[in-house]
Amino acid sequence: MRVKNKPYRAVWLEDRTVKAIDQRLLPHRFKVASLRTHRDTAIAIREMLVRGAGTIGATAAYGLAQACLEAPAQGYADYVYRAYEALLATRPTAIDLKHALDRVIEAVKDADTLGQVRRKAAGEANAIAADYVVACQAIARHGLPLVKKNARVLTHCNAGWLAIVDWGSATAPIYLAQHRGRKPFVYVDETRPRLQGAQLTAWELGNEKVRHAVIVDNAAGHFMQRGLVDLVVVGADRIAANGDVANKIGTYEKAVLARENGVPFYVAAPTSTISLETATGKDIPIEERSLDEVLCLGGKRLAPVGSQALNPAFDVTPARFVSGIVTEKGIVKAKASALKKLLG
Ligand code: MRU
Repeated sequence: MRVKNKPYRAVWLEDRTVKAIDQRLLPHRFKVASLRTHRDTAIAIREMLVRGAGTIGATAAYGLAQACLEAPAQGYADYVYRAYEALLATRPTAIDLKHALDRVIEAVKDADTLGQVRRKAAGEANAIAADYVVACQAIARHGLPLVKKNARVLTHCNAGWLAIVDWGSATAPIYLAQHRGRKPFVYVDETRPRLQGAQLTAWELGNEKVRHAVIVDNAAGHFMQRGLVDLVVVGADRIAANGDVANKIGTYEKAVLARENGVPFYVAAPTSTISLETATGKDIPIEERSLDEVLCLGGKRLAPVGSQALNPAFDVTPARFVSGIVTEKGIVKAKASALKKLLG
């Protein structure tokens, strides 16, 4: 996507340095961070300098490539293994992280020399990032028929280009519809507690000149009930084998409200987000984040001192609430048989 007329991806590799847009500073400051070692890269994922399932995956792949480039000749396998473990431990819910790391390991496993390991690791990490871009462009094409002229679309959190290298998953059909002159309008859930909707999705949509309004998370039902929402599209952090979908906390409520109000509820995600090894939503680990994210806002304490909080970062939407999953291979039902067939 273009920012001030210059094309950007959310993350990329320059020589041995991972470059990433610092998403913690948006929308007020646009800064590219330089992550010089795989340890810097792991910290950047954990501290959410980069976030969003696909971008986490691509960043972790670059981090593992950095580890291969840094590893000493003596004991490099051990060094790379430790880096794999450290990167894998950064965020628990998004399965793209593991899938991307495993792709890099698979690519280097038969290399004969350290030089080959390094070349192959960097090549595979770049291929992973490029595959996300191609997948999101295909998601845009498959999802386009859902976004009719003047469609009013509701989305939750940020499944935009910042979250998945370029184009985004949930936003890709919206951007394509905008390019085709369909003038979509987007309700952007603010997405407490980290406000990825208000800060990131709204910034992305404004940058692409897509009409939109930020709404508080609790307002979605109101707009659906009044017949003002034609479609809900969200991203995913992990899709279980039975079609249950883990996505940002609050997604489940939107799905239930959509069903109650007869609004189609679609999930857009590349096939790398599907985990056939995860049987159902109950098997998806849900990240618990700092309680300060709930108790404070903008660095200022909201709740009385002494009040506790609970802060699950994701929830699970049961497959029965999902109208369809928009992938790079087409739209499929959120059903075990359809997902198995899709992944061949
Ligand atoms: O905690 P985050 O910001 O990394 O959460 C990820 C998300 O933004 C979403 O849940 C999103 O909808 C899917 S990521 C393509």
